[in-house]
Amino acid sequence: MKTYLVTGGAGFIGSNYIHYMFRKYGEDIRIINVDCLTYAGNLENLKGVENRDNYTFVKADIRDREAIEEIFAKNNIDRVVHFAAESHVDRSIRNPEVFVETNVLGTLVMLNAAKKAWEKPDGTYMEDKKFLHVSTDEVYGSLEEGDTYFYETTPIDPHSPYSASKASSDMLVKAYIDTYKFPANITNCSNNYGPYQFPEKLIPLIINNALQGRKLPVYGDGKNVRDWLYVDDHAKAIDMVQEKGRLGERYNIGGHNEKQNIEIVRTILDTLQEMLPEGDPRKALVSHDLITYVEDRKGHDRRYAIAPDKIKAEIGWYPETMFKEGIRLTIQWFFEHEDWMKNVTSGDYQKYYEEMYKA
Ligand code: NAD
Ligand code: TYD
Repeated sequence: MKTYLVTGGAGFIGSNYIHYMFRKYGEDIRIINVDCLTYAGNLENLKGVENRDNYTFVKADIRDREAIEEIFAKNNIDRVVHFAAESHVDRSIRNPEVFVETNVLGTLVMLNAAKKAWEKPDGTYMEDKKFLHVSTDEVYGSLEEGDTYFYETTPIDPHSPYSASKASSDMLVKAYIDTYKFPANITNCSNNYGPYQFPEKLIPLIINNALQGRKLPVYGDGKNVRDWLYVDDHAKAIDMVQEKGRLGERYNIGGHNEKQNIEIVRTILDTLQEMLPEGDPRKALVSHDLITYVEDRKGHDRRYAIAPDKIKAEIGWYPETMFKEGIRLTIQWFFEHEDWMKNVTSGDYQKYYEEMYKA
């Protein structure tokens, strides 16, 4: 039975990945979820798995070398899937330091701890040990309309403090692969959406605001493009890369689902109208009139787009969930989890929102 150490498993993608892995492997794997529970980490995301015998939660900070080494010392870890990070671009523009501390130094701690646990005296590694570093397509910078796509060979050119910190962590993983032959992969994925996403990100923020008849802030001209991927497809890709990918390789994940932000906002409004039953008081609140153009994000990347040719050719992964279907699944999930949204938007979120959108 393989033991997985998942970092950041109480966040959006990490928790979806843990649910996905238990759906797929059931009792055949063990997962240790290491998360320090920042504002973005939420144990409610793991309801339904927390009582499993083959699941353990450890509250620890990836910057804490001793705590991380202890987890490796006490458990025979076979797989590391490293999600833990500060993940929001707007927050990185306001407060870059913690992005460097967690995303860069935290990744270094994870690499060193895994290397120490897995390396044999002759410099080779124990058999079948693998580290997967979860990264973003934002490390490649920005495309313009009419440009091609991001490929694995596209030069790294990050613009925001967030993407610069992720690019730095990617480079560290690459350095460990190149220098120490460390058994790792890097994945660079496009924008995810789906259940459990924190409503600082575009899609859950728009769903939450629209249902309350609040303004829908669209940055700049609303024509920035993102390549949206349903989070389960990402979880599947990570598992496939880790099991079938060539060690040491980078794989881009995403694909052919490019949409302008304004199109996303309009689709959400139309889908909410379709899905809300007659007589639901929220139906009267959801309106295109809520769309409000606001000051642009500083250094706002224009377009991200992935051509998932390598992962498709080598591993057989491709995105399965069409946006039309994925957005309905997401909205349905938010309808069924009103308490989740209430809980995450109470307290500190209000302060963040007021500060961020005060203009
Ligand atoms: P998230 O912000 O929802 O979750 C991050 C998790 O990491 C939280 O549970 C948080 O508590 C935990 N964490 C933060 N700092 C920590 C620390 N110092 N020690 C331990 N735990 C810590 O993020 P997400 O959207 O789920 O993203 C997960 C990963 O995927 C990140 O590495 C991100 O860069 C990458 N990624 C995200 C997207 C996206 O669209 N969200 C796309 C591509 C790649
Ligand atoms: P976001 O979800 O923050 O992801 P990322 O910046 O990592 O791509 O933003 C997605 C796009 O939506 C991005 O172009 C910024 C834009 N955006 C808005 O227009 N309004 C908002 O309130 C937010 C949060 C994002």
